[in-house]
Amino acid sequence: MTGADLTSAEYYKKATSFWNYPEVPYGAALREMIRPSDVVADIGCGIGVVSCFLAGISRQVIAIDKDKAALNVLREDIKRLGIKNIEVVHANWPDVQTADWDVAVAFYHHRFGYTTEQVDTLRRKTRRSGIMVNQGVRPREGFYESLGSLFGITNNPDSCVGSCYVRGRLEQAGFAVTCDDVFHDFGQPVDTVEDAVRYAMRQLKLHESDRPRLEGIVLDHVEYVNGQMVLPIKRFNCLLRFYQQAA
Ligand SMILES: C[S@@+](CC[C@H](N)C(=O)[O-])C[C@H]1O[C@@H](n2cnc3c(N)ncnc32)[C@H](O)[C@@H]1O
Repeated sequence: MTGADLTSAEYYKKATSFWNYPEVPYGAALREMIRPSDVVADIGCGIGVVSCFLAGISRQVIAIDKDKAALNVLREDIKRLGIKNIEVVHANWPDVQTADWDVAVAFYHHRFGYTTEQVDTLRRKTRRSGIMVNQGVRPREGFYESLGSLFGITNNPDSCVGSCYVRGRLEQAGFAVTCDDVFHDFGQPVDTVEDAVRYAMRQLKLHESDRPRLEGIVLDHVEYVNGQMVLPIKRFNCLLRFYQQAA
């Protein structure tokens, strides 16, 4: 399949397979927290790359997302891979009517522990612990950051997607919380410079008139990793682990 034919989900899968996500960089943290007998909720599962990984290390996965199209991609993968222990749930977190879970997982789901309803639901339905990953406070590096300055989009160096706020809310609710800074190299593998330009135009919804400027910056930035052309995206993430405590 050429770059011209790829959907967003296929580009994402290409990246997850190239970088072995979520094993890299989160496999050790997930295995340390999750036991083979556990029920795990994957909240904001998207197309379910993390859910499929979790299915291999737990008894049952409850894969929750509000995006029907993403869940259909997961359903097809479940069928294709013969996975028997993922329950796919279309729901708008925290409005979920599922069984409770031992461990909650939420990777790159920005609105996870913000509201009282979300935190109360986590407290009520999580038997043991949880793990959340989101953009941290350290600035990202790579193609998009350079692109931002080219197109005059300023990057707030202190911006994050609120992991410290979520940490505070979880602690206030009675969870014990730890927090780590995790580097995640997650550049987009592309086949050609044209493929890279097409991918970036589409991700950023750019106009055809922006193409010449974009081509220049793509050429300046593409890297080769083990012989594969990659549009570099280097993230510094906040990994929160939270644990129920005896009342
Ligand atoms: C960036 S994707 C992350 C996907 C997946 N966790 C991963 O790491 O590959 C974030 C997902 O969260 C989902 N999401 C955002 N808000 C949600 C909500 N309130 N309820 C359920 N899903 C939500 C989006 O639909 C999207 O699929």
